[in-house]
Amino acid sequence: MTRLDKYLSDNANLTRKTAKHALHRSDVTVDGVIVKKGDVKISTQEVRLNGEQIFVLGTIYIMLHKPVDYVCSTVDDDGVSVLQLIDEPWSKKLHIAGRLDKDTTGLVLLTDDGQWSHKITSPNNHCEKEYIVTLEEPLTQDLIEMFANGIELNNELKPTKPATLTILSEFSASLVISEGKYHQVKRMFAAVGNRVVGLHRQRIGGLILDDSLKEGQWTRLTESQLKTLV
Ligand code: URA
Repeated sequence: MTRLDKYLSDNANLTRKTAKHALHRSDVTVDGVIVKKGDVKISTQEVRLNGEQIFVLGTIYIMLHKPVDYVCSTVDDDGVSVLQLIDEPWSKKLHIAGRLDKDTTGLVLLTDDGQWSHKITSPNNHCEKEYIVTLEEPLTQDLIEMFANGIELNNELKPTKPATLTILSEFSASLVISEGKYHQVKRMFAAVGNRVVGLHRQRIGGLILDDSLKEGQWTRLTESQLKTLV
């Protein structure tokens, strides 16, 4: 049982205050009857706001295929946020679990579950991230060992944790890292005298970016996908 005002703020993207206003304006019905009091208890009744049924949302877990030029920030100061790609009334509840740079594409996870995103992003959990990297200069075999041993980055006290580099072609590679320092992949290649010209994240933990998702598209994660992550 939940209070009606809480039910509205949890599931209809309203604050407690705007939920109260909606109730006063007679915008809310419970089983077809206008209800103005926020303390009415809701269990299985049908709640409608301006005629639209409000369902219990539950916790939201989303996989998004980020295009270039969108930013992984919830404020719009630096450009258009990836949140704008999720045209749903509840999208304002979400936060991003592990950011990508504006010019990076690929897998971004969004949720309203703070504990879950902490597990994915906390360095202590060593959650793997796999990137497909395109480079300006040809790749050399010696990089495999250098990245496996860890390399020094500018302005960092400790070397990077062991990373797995798989060379795919002269100018492209897969790189698996288990930490998420600022601009880490670009800085790792800069440290060995190369330059990243294309970067795409295709996996976080055991979760691979769904190849049916085009850039800008998203989907809610299934139970079994959630289990592959943490
Ligand atoms: N490393 C980077 O340099 N950029 C990203 O967007 C992700 C990892």
